[in-house]
Amino acid sequence: MNQIVVNADLGKATISRHIYGHFAEHLGRCIYGGFWVGEDSSIPNTRGIRNDIVEALRAVQIPNLRWPGGCFADEYHWMDGIGPKEQRPTMINTHWGGVTENNHFGTHEFMDMCAQLGCEPYICGNLGSGTVQEMQQWVEYLTSDGRSPMADLRRRNGREEPWQVKFWGMGNENWGCGGTMRAEYYADEYRRYQTYARNFGSNQLYKIACGPRNDDYHWTEVLMKNGRNMWGALLMHGLSLHYYTPDNPYRQQHSATQFGESEWSYILKTAALMDDLIANHSAIMDQYDPDKHVGLIVDEWGTWYAVESGTHPRFLYQQNSIRDALVAALTLNILNRHCERVTMANIAQTVNVLQALILTEADSDRIVLTPTYHVFEMYKVHQDATLLPLDLRCDDYVCGEHTMPGLGASASRDKAGRVHISVCNLNPSHSADVRCEVRGMDLNVIRGRVLTADRMNDHNTFDAPEQVRPTTFQGVTIHDNQCTITLPAKSVVVLELN
Ligand code: AHR
Repeated sequence: MNQIVVNADLGKATISRHIYGHFAEHLGRCIYGGFWVGEDSSIPNTRGIRNDIVEALRAVQIPNLRWPGGCFADEYHWMDGIGPKEQRPTMINTHWGGVTENNHFGTHEFMDMCAQLGCEPYICGNLGSGTVQEMQQWVEYLTSDGRSPMADLRRRNGREEPWQVKFWGMGNENWGCGGTMRAEYYADEYRRYQTYARNFGSNQLYKIACGPRNDDYHWTEVLMKNGRNMWGALLMHGLSLHYYTPDNPYRQQHSATQFGESEWSYILKTAALMDDLIANHSAIMDQYDPDKHVGLIVDEWGTWYAVESGTHPRFLYQQNSIRDALVAALTLNILNRHCERVTMANIAQTVNVLQALILTEADSDRIVLTPTYHVFEMYKVHQDATLLPLDLRCDDYVCGEHTMPGLGASASRDKAGRVHISVCNLNPSHSADVRCEVRGMDLNVIRGRVLTADRMNDHNTFDAPEQVRPTTFQGVTIHDNQCTITLPAKSVVVLELN
């Protein structure tokens, strides 16, 4: 018998809403043809930004958006993206397909988009091919309220008031596309760059150092040890971690929708490794920062498969099935449970790239909300809630050589006292009965929603956009202050207890 025990009257750590963050890069059709259609488009937009996308992301309470990359960030020169659009220089997006970037979506457009979305900007500065001065000036341009060359330039470009920008990344993947640096070299560069990223007026930057990929524990060790000033004070608020499912070189072997149970189980098992990675990186961080001042920022995660046939190989456009919903649910449960150390995460990427929440049809006003979108919508109840201790005992799900716990779960209590339990059943063929004991509260009303599908590879298309969508969950009964839950095969369930 599977069993969950939740202590509803305990818990101290907060699940930051920023764990439910997003990522938008100048890559493929994420910005151009995704978020941004331009003011003259027949697709309904506000100052060039698609209204339907804004509405959909507001509905999941998008808390932050990371931009402009990714690998693009370390080739991006922000001054090319300000001023009158017709005068902005073009560039070649060398990393993502060699396409011409017209820079019509720049700093003002991004900040406008964040305002429309009601989310916080998370800007990743160029450390790889930029200069300290360039990054310093970008911070000043955005946030200075004084009379200074950059603040005055911003005013000339139509924005009188400074913006508030908290989250600031010092480069992206500087061990790879961001400069092929050694950890020791990057740590020194980080120290230099962060010195000149100033706080202007009331704006306080939350500085995020480039962290490791996957299990590069050496990188974490070096950054935690060396990312300090001469008196030993840590110079970072966050250290990033990137982990994709699956890793290179296996991505090209996996289709987003054409797969059997072996590939199903491989992907879920690979996604579940996030738990060990966070635990191991956190253990290193604990040695150098036992009071957990530095957040682990998982600012790129998600599935990465072969692109859809007929699409540009460097545009990373992939479909999204109920399997991706399970990856999202499993991962968000893991991130919730590590919320003492993990203070932000960003799924890659929001629109039309990798594990997208939204797909847009080229040159059309049709969009699709993916199964992953629905998980973010169902899980938004955990944002800024108190993580509750949860003990999960469950049967393994076994498929050939792949064995893993058959269920994943997390629980939280929101500010109104409601308890939410999110559970997912990874088994694609068998339902799971779960006895759930909730200590410290009287179980009265239970409401629930479920996301599931008939087939492992079910997904939403422009012609059938509601193939996979949440419905009311009927599989719960209460007796003697305990409940029994019957989770359908391949399902994600979120319960609300009062
Ligand atoms: O999300 C796609 C790419 O993956 C990003 O640009 C890069 O940071 C990572 O390797």
